[in-house]
Amino acid sequence: MIHARGLARTYTTRRGDVDAVRGVDLDVEAGEIVGFLGPNGAGKTTTLRMLTTLLRPTRGEATVAGADLRRDPATVRRRIGYVAQSGSTASEARAGEEVVDHALLYGLERSVAVTRGQELFGQLELDGLWDRKAGSLSGGQRRRLDIALGLIHTPRLVFLDEPTTGLDPQARANLWTHVRGLRDTRGSTVFLTTHYLDEADALCDRILVIDAGQIVAQGSPEELKQRVSGDAIVLTATQPSDVARIAAVAARLPGSSEAVVDGSVVEVRVPQGRTQLAGLLRALDADGLEVDGVELRRPTLDDVFLTLTGRSLRDGEQSRDSADTTDGEAA
Ligand SMILES: Nc1ncnc2c1ncn2[C@@H]1O[C@H](COP(=O)(O)OP(=O)(O)OP(=O)(O)O)[C@@H](O)[C@H]1O
Ligand SMILES: [Mg+2]
Repeated sequence: MIHARGLARTYTTRRGDVDAVRGVDLDVEAGEIVGFLGPNGAGKTTTLRMLTTLLRPTRGEATVAGADLRRDPATVRRRIGYVAQSGSTASEARAGEEVVDHALLYGLERSVAVTRGQELFGQLELDGLWDRKAGSLSGGQRRRLDIALGLIHTPRLVFLDEPTTGLDPQARANLWTHVRGLRDTRGSTVFLTTHYLDEADALCDRILVIDAGQIVAQGSPEELKQRVSGDAIVLTATQPSDVARIAAVAARLPGSSEAVVDGSVVEVRVPQGRTQLAGLLRALDADGLEVDGVELRRPTLDDVFLTLTGRSLRDGEQSRDSADTTDGEAA
């Protein structure tokens, strides 16, 4: 459904060139739900905009939904749906009209468009908002309207750029159900970016991790988690002055990683953390070392992320304004 080779994009700015995407190869098969993960500025939106014909690649080739991206962008456009990170709804239009207009652009008949639009409004919990001006909707309602626009023509391939950012937990869960439904009932393929690791874990068949413009890992959520060996044991020293000695004891556990110390907190990674915990506590006790808290953590996708990119995705969420895409030429 998507086959890209060496896809790259360099932005030319007054302050020099930005290599936003540096040679991405990717293959997405029909019927897959694929998550595209990476810290802020990694190149996710740029990749999506190239694959949806909105931005011309500097280098590389791709076929998208069976059509060549460079030679036949019109066919690509007709076959896909795209929900932009920044949204696309005009604020003066009425929500229902906007959805219907969008469908007409794709060649649907008005009566079909209205039926399909109303069905989508129901599924996305936008009931009663058909005649409301888009500008008067709440942020989460507006996001769901963006999603309705991207899905109105029942595309076989849908690109969603951070579809659930700004949605409340219930609306997020509802969207997951909807995305799975698209795949299960219509065989649609979904390529989405997200900063929520629980979302990637719960929803995606496969995950691609991009960092600094290159794919650094891919696999199912389980496969990725298995790459991070061992469980984390996190200890909080009662006396901050004991922290170095606690770290030394923890690092002596069989198969332990080096201990990472942060203030009075010590973290090590060990195989079979649960079975090693009792021995660790006894060893600390024998040395007269007291801890306030002990936590055992199974690897999460965030650990995968940290291992692969040296950064936590959660850190990234706090600096979300780092990559505002404003311009870019259409292909
Ligand atoms: N129009 C542009 N002009 C110049 N640089 C750009 C432009 N758009 C994006 N960039 C830069 O390209 C890099 C990749 O940006 P991109 O928007 O693809 O990241 P992203 O992975 O989608 O990040 P986020 O998680 O914040 O949405 C960043 O360094 C960004 O600042
Ligand atoms: Mg982005």
